Amino acid sequence: MQILKTVQEVRQFRATCSGNVGFVPTMGALHAGHAQLLKSSVSQNDHTIVSIFVNPTQFLAGEDLDRYPRTPEADIKICELCGVDAIFMPDANEIYSQIEPKILAPKELSSTLEGATRPGHFDGVCTVLTKFFNIINPTNAYFGKKDAQQLLIVQHMVKSLFMPINIVPVDIVRSSDGLALSSRNSYLNDDELAQALKLSRSLMKASNLIKANKLNSLEIKDAMSSCLEPLKVDYIAIADKSLKPIDSIELGNTIILIAVYVGNTRLIDNLWV
Ligand code: PAF
Repeated sequence: MQILKTVQEVRQFRATCSGNVGFVPTMGALHAGHAQLLKSSVSQNDHTIVSIFVNPTQFLAGEDLDRYPRTPEADIKICELCGVDAIFMPDANEIYSQIEPKILAPKELSSTLEGATRPGHFDGVCTVLTKFFNIINPTNAYFGKKDAQQLLIVQHMVKSLFMPINIVPVDIVRSSDGLALSSRNSYLNDDELAQALKLSRSLMKASNLIKANKLNSLEIKDAMSSCLEPLKVDYIAIADKSLKPIDSIELGNTIILIAVYVGNTRLIDNLWV
């Protein structure tokens, strides 16, 4: 496995790849959820390139850019075990210069939910991914469904900018007690980890109501709110795949999304219905 630091090194490596190239963009602190992305890419492509880059432009002032977990040695081992061919681990100076264009995420998809609390976040995501897609030129790129809004925005960007890349969604990986895996779970103490289980339990409650044919969004949201008490809820949303709120569940076209504070840590989770 090669560790590449510069754009030139990536381009040279890419030129040696024949067949399909899978790309898994990450910010490091890899966990079993990332491993699922890596394994999907390795099994579906001739070569897999992973990026590990804590992208400064997607963090707002005052967010956790400086304390975001960085575990490069463990990350390299995970990539090696999963059969990755190359890791791109650039410095910020390699990716950004003083004068920068910005790729704007479409307002319709990026101003609600995560974007309402984190304005500009998705512009940073779209900008860095456009750069990575241009550097790596992957056949397939892998994204977790846990970041549902990010996935929908990236799918839209690739389509509307005519980028010849297939975006592959990968299912959420959960711990045995239901917590969706996230690098930010490392901020939680034991008590907060127990509290964090309320997120997946509230989605489970929603799922059970839907199975019992209770499809009214308000009713489902009320039941979820009760499950989440006493945590501070940022949002509970029931939306279609264009992220427009819907009054009633449409099977196959609904996402239930939540963002909740556990202590000072903001966690997100969702259910694709
Ligand atoms: O989901 C992430 O980890 C990041 O948003 C991504 C896609 C690697 C872009 O920095």
